[in-house]
Formats: sequence, structure tokens, C-alpha cells
Amino acid sequence: MSKEIVLSGIRSTGNLHLGNYFGALRNFVRMQDNYDCNFFIADLHALTTNPDPKQLHASVKQIVAEYLAAGMDPEKVNLFIQSDIPEIPELYLLLNMHVGIGELMRTTSFKDKARKMLGIGAPANGDDEEAFEKQIIGAETNKRVNAGLLTYPTLMAVDILIQKAKWVPVGKDQEQHLELTRRFARRFNSFYGVDFFVEPQNFNFGAAAIKVPGLDGSGKMGKSEGNCIYLTDDPKTLTKKVMRAMTDEGPKEPNSPVSEPIQNLFTLLELTSTPDVVKHFKDVYADCSIRYGDLKKQLAEDILKITTPIRERVNEYLANDDYLRKVVATGAERARVRASQTLKEAREIMGIRKF
Ligand code: ADP
Ligand code: TRP
Repeated sequence: MSKEIVLSGIRSTGNLHLGNYFGALRNFVRMQDNYDCNFFIADLHALTTNPDPKQLHASVKQIVAEYLAAGMDPEKVNLFIQSDIPEIPELYLLLNMHVGIGELMRTTSFKDKARKMLGIGAPANGDDEEAFEKQIIGAETNKRVNAGLLTYPTLMAVDILIQKAKWVPVGKDQEQHLELTRRFARRFNSFYGVDFFVEPQNFNFGAAAIKVPGLDGSGKMGKSEGNCIYLTDDPKTLTKKVMRAMTDEGPKEPNSPVSEPIQNLFTLLELTSTPDVVKHFKDVYADCSIRYGDLKKQLAEDILKITTPIRERVNEYLANDDYLRKVVATGAERARVRASQTLKEAREIMGIRKF
């Protein structure tokens, strides 16, 4: 039986952090033996926020090295760079003809990023939405809310649809993009009366999608939140970040409710430690004898058990340009086989045919 097709990618916007690892990369590696895996670096998506060209190139290389260091085997996986697949931008142009600007403007990630770039806060009521739209339309070009950012979901949908992927291992923050991908696929299929694009689903081995919290008391660990623990952080830096994590005054009565910063520490502990360790700290929280310093020390140690082998291997890969080049060239060559077939068929379905 042929293996089910999997596709996922990470934007090249800097080193990978624990959110990327638990939300995405860990599953990439766990899936590689049993699925037809396609994992890439989304450098075209990174362009939507106008990176410095030198940094963009360095980030692409860094992420290839981190994928490999985390255990991705390029013999089993098509590991490629998005911009090495010219079929993607072409299908992106075609699919955009079936995507509404309204639905793109309502996408949460677009609104969040555009708001940040325009320096405006979260909306308090419906009127703010209208003001926001006016500001976007009236914004000066130097504010950088560009058409690429608006059409980000189309490009992501194409990454997935062009490979006919069934499964997309991503974190919780990407679920709206997956929903849009399914919508675009259905719309295309029904407009042309074909059964062509496959509707993809998130994948986390049957569990709910993951959201790794920040240690600053906030909801999510993310590059733009500036609260990341990186896979390549050295032990001293990493331990310092964990020891500085926000806490509260501690439980005053047995079985007190858990505040958000403490819940965040527990969530990370559940991802990184063994069940008996988690149980121990929950018990001492419940009977009020917990010392947050001990919890953090344990957490830092357990995170380091995961990150140290990765950190130690990254530099070996980074020093071997020839190898990296070979890996991504082979990956692109293999990924282009299905991409060019899908593009060819999509063109025909849409009526773009040779005489
Ligand atoms: P960032 O949000 O830091 O810019 P990306 O958007 O490039 O990172 O995310 C790449 C992958 O990592 C996606 O699958 C995304 O869902 C996942 N991811 C990023 N941050 C988190 C997080 N805090 N928790 C879970 N998954 C995350
Ligand atoms: N949007 C994703 C992120 O920010 C990255 C991405 C681009 C992606 N194309 C994709 C993820 C296709 C999965 C599948 O994390």
C-alpha cells in the first residue's frame, strides 16, 4: 500500500524554538518512517515580513541544519526549500483567482501581523475593525503591510495542495490556515466539477494540536513575542531563561487554582519531563509545599536533555555546505515530481491549454 502523504514547513525567520519543536519538528521526525514525508523551509513566506536578505539566507541554512540535527533523515524525507520549487509560485497565482480578498483580510494571522506593523493594538469593538480596514487601505507603503502578507494563506494552501498532502503536522496557531486550505480546495473542486485537490488535516498522532506557552506569563512562545527558548541556546543561557520565568506568590491553601504563569510551567514540564516528575510537582503544588525554584531547575534540566544532542550536532551540519546543498537539491528534485504533475493538471482544469 502506498504511504499517506505528509507535508509541513517552517518559515525561515531565525533559529527554531521549543514551540517549533513540539508543535512541528518533533512530529516531522516521528512520522518519517511511516509516511511519504515532505518537509520544507518556507522562505517565500518569510519574505512577507521583509527580512534582511543576508539574514534570510542564513536562516534557511540554519533551519536545514536544525532539521537534520533533530534527526530528520533526508533518505526518508523530501527535505527542500520552498523557493526551489518554481511550480509553487505559479499555482499560487492560479489559486489566488479563487480566493476572496475579504476572507484574507479577516484571517487572524493577517490582522495580528498588520496591526503590529501599523502599531495599533487589539480591537475593543466593531468600530475599531472599520478603522483598522481604513488604516490598511490608507497605509503608506513603508508600513510594509504588503499584498504578500495578505495572500499568505493562498501560498500556504498551495504548498500543501500541490503535494496532495493528507496530513499537515503543525501547531495550534496554524489551524485557521488549514481551515482556509480546505475551503480553497473544496471551492476549486466544486467550481470546476472535479475531484482534484485533497482536503488536508492537522496531525498530532491523534492528540489535539499543541500550543507551547511562553515563560513570560503570556500565551504563546513565538519569535515575534520575543520569549523563545531556542534549541541552540547554550545550557547557561537556557537555564537563565527558565529560572527567570514568571511565577506567582505560591498557593496559600491546599488545592488552590493554578494561575496562568504556573500553568505554563506545568505545560512545559508535561512536554519535557516524565509523568512521575509532573505528578510530583502537581502534588507539592496541591499541598502548598512547592518551591518554584525547584520546579524551574528540573524543567531546565529536562529541556536540556532534549536540546543538547540537537545543539551539539547543528554545528557539524553548518560546517558542511556541500552536504547541505546536496540534501536540498535532492529534496527539491523529488518534491518537484508531484508539484509539476499537479500544476500541469490544474492548468488544464482551468482551461490553460496549448493549441
Ligand atoms: P513563529 O510563530 O515563532 O514565527 P513559525 O510561524 O515559523 O514560528 O512556526 C512554524 C511551526 O511551529 C508551525 O507548525 C507552528 O504551528 C509551530 N509553532 C510555532 N510556535 C508554536 C508554539 N508556541 N506552540 C506550538 N507550535 C508552535
Ligand atoms: N505558515 C506556517 C507557519 O508560520 C509555515 C508554513 C508555510 C506551512 N507553508 C506551510 C506549514 C505548509 C505547513 C504547511 O508556521
